[in-house]
Amino acid sequence: MTSYTATAPGKIILFGEHAVVYGQPALAVPVHKVQASAMVTPCPENSGLIIESSSLNLRLALAEAATHALVVTAQLVLEKLKEPEPDALITIQSTIPIAGGLGSGAAVSAALARALSGYLGHPLDPADLSALVYEIEKLHHGTPSGIDNTVVCYGQPVYFVRDTPPEVFRVGKPFHLLIADTGVASLTHIAVGGVRERWQSAPQKYTALFADIGQIARQAREAIETGNIAAIGPLMTNNQSLLRRIGVSSDEIERLIEAAEQAGAEGTKLSGGGIGGNVIVLAAPEHTERISEALRQAGAVRIIHTLVT
Ligand code: PMV
Repeated sequence: MTSYTATAPGKIILFGEHAVVYGQPALAVPVHKVQASAMVTPCPENSGLIIESSSLNLRLALAEAATHALVVTAQLVLEKLKEPEPDALITIQSTIPIAGGLGSGAAVSAALARALSGYLGHPLDPADLSALVYEIEKLHHGTPSGIDNTVVCYGQPVYFVRDTPPEVFRVGKPFHLLIADTGVASLTHIAVGGVRERWQSAPQKYTALFADIGQIARQAREAIETGNIAAIGPLMTNNQSLLRRIGVSSDEIERLIEAAEQAGAEGTKLSGGGIGGNVIVLAAPEHTERISEALRQAGAVRIIHTLVT
């Protein structure tokens, strides 16, 4: 058998996070500048399957760590392909920041499943890969909508509605985004749990807020597809007001948003679970440097500049 390598990108949610859990549409795009990769190499007979990662600081034997998410990923691949455990080493590397809402967990599982299935001669297609990674997402946080695994496995911009097949959409005109990390870990399941509690105690109010977010996501899809970049910024800012109202912003997020706006951002919002994690900023190309500097001054610990295409 010969070695096999596969990758999966990071991701950000552009519009619709949280409301997507309640059936509203959301838009997410891959961030190819950061990625997870997995390489499978053959090992001598009776070695079993080993998963190793220096960047994640782990070494797991399939037989000994049955509940670890990466081991479960490998096991699901073997079950799906009806293959026995191979004698092989899977080496994982990732440049995707952990707990930043950039889809690190989903991307690592996707890269592993893609590499292992390819090594065994049956590379999984995006839909099967995404369904498999969704099972792992459920281990991380109980009620995921499925958007993270979808965008990471398809590697293209997706318009996502829970429990329906994802729609890949095209970007009419590329636009620049700055992804600025608050440095506060984004614990998605806590943010999602908090929203659920508030929704349960005021269902009508929250259902209406989710519907407003969904409407913004639909308008944003049209703006992005038609290359109407001028419309995207205000939609981001409106989406952020609604995210504030459902209680998932934070002082750190607001500090970065204010700094970016003062430095000339076209639109700003948190991305993903919120509370911590990343803020995304739509910036005209000539202003990206100035806005990045303002974000750093306001406490951003990492800034990724990406062109959404
Ligand atoms: O925190 P992230 O980037 O993994 O995004 C979570 C997105 C939510 O809508 C908040 C939850 C979900 O499952 O869709």
